[in-house]
Amino acid sequence: MERTLILLKPDAVQRGIAGQILTRFEQKGLKIVAMKLMQITPELAAKHYEAHKERPFYPGLVKFMTCSPVVAMVLEGIEAIAVCRNLMGKTNARESAPGTIRGDFGMSRSYNLVHGSDGPEAATREIGLFFPEGVVKYDYAAMNWAYDPVEELKK
Ligand code: RTP
Ligand code: MG
Repeated sequence: MERTLILLKPDAVQRGIAGQILTRFEQKGLKIVAMKLMQITPELAAKHYEAHKERPFYPGLVKFMTCSPVVAMVLEGIEAIAVCRNLMGKTNARESAPGTIRGDFGMSRSYNLVHGSDGPEAATREIGLFFPEGVVKYDYAAMNWAYDPVEELKK
């Protein structure tokens, strides 16, 4: 099992499509293990986007991500990081394939609706930043039907 940090960005919340985007992840079979509406502070944005500090789009990115609330969540599943990145589509929403979240809902490269961790190390770091309180432990009813319990869930 793998975990990933997903953010429904300010544009998703302000356009009133956060629910539809969440549905994409839910219907895929990802388990929600943490979720909250929150305002990202400039300090948190700086830590989260540390890797992009020198990029020309960085000031605009921090301004965008802190301008209005986001829905932050942790999703869990087998290969959850890659599964979510595929569901999201390419960074530039105009170039994202139809069927992906960005491809179906977006027109912008910077206002691209959703963030997903890009690797296991980033996921661990980002989950720690956004959910220092930890995630919620519970049995997910879909687990034994979203996966083959014999082949994929055997311990
Ligand atoms: P994210 O980190 O948000 O999941 O998106 P990503 O991996 O697809 O893209 P990344 O290269 O990590 O860029 C982070 C975010 O910065 C904004 N961006 N703007 N104007 C630009 O050239 C530009 N390039 C990137 C986007 O909001 C992107 O998601
Ligand atoms: Mg990224």
